[in-house]
Amino acid sequence: MVSEDISPIAGWIAAIPLWQRYDYSAEAAQRGLEQALARADLLLTVDVDDAFACGLAWCVPRGAFGRSYYLRLLGVQSGLHSAGLGATLLGAAEREAAHSASDLVLLVSDFNADAQRFYQRQGYRQVGAIPGYVLPDVTELIFWKRLVPSGAH
Ligand SMILES: CC(C)(COP(=O)(O)OP(=O)(O)OC[C@H]1O[C@@H](n2cnc3c(N)ncnc32)[C@H](O)[C@@H]1OP(=O)(O)O)[C@@H](O)C(=O)NCCC(=O)NCCS
Repeated sequence: MVSEDISPIAGWIAAIPLWQRYDYSAEAAQRGLEQALARADLLLTVDVDDAFACGLAWCVPRGAFGRSYYLRLLGVQSGLHSAGLGATLLGAAEREAAHSASDLVLLVSDFNADAQRFYQRQGYRQVGAIPGYVLPDVTELIFWKRLVPSGAH
């Protein structure tokens, strides 16, 4: 991701119903992505034809337990779901993370059954749950995957 991508990405993130439920506004996404870029988080985007940066994988190195990569956000612009972009982004993030970490950890909302199915298919399994962690009425499920060390592919 480059800084010119931030504003359009923040726009489509804020339009996704999941993040509206978390009150994640375009302004908050913009601020978060600017800080992430400055901190050198892992920020991967995908383009489709003339739609640039219509998907984003945002990972924080050592963001889980000071050890594992934390997948802070994975999203694809509405209208482009279920075309394989999310799987492509996640695979690229895993390959990059495997250079310096052995695991990737993420949170997924209890009500987001589609995303849970997606992550399970990508080899993640639920290892825990935190009730009311972000929203009082939602349990965040902790998903985890052991990464194949780079060089062992
Ligand atoms: C989850 C998401 C990143 C997957 O990317 P994608 O490009 O749509 O996924 P792929 O084409 O690689 O895989 C398709 C699978 O994604 C999941 N998926 C599709 N649309 C989805 C949506 N609106 N919300 C959540 N998951 C979705 C389904 O499991 C789907 O499998 P199915 O076709 O058998 O139902 C993307 O759909 C998205 O941005 N969803 C909204 C935000 C979200 O839920 N992010 C994850 C937060 S933890």
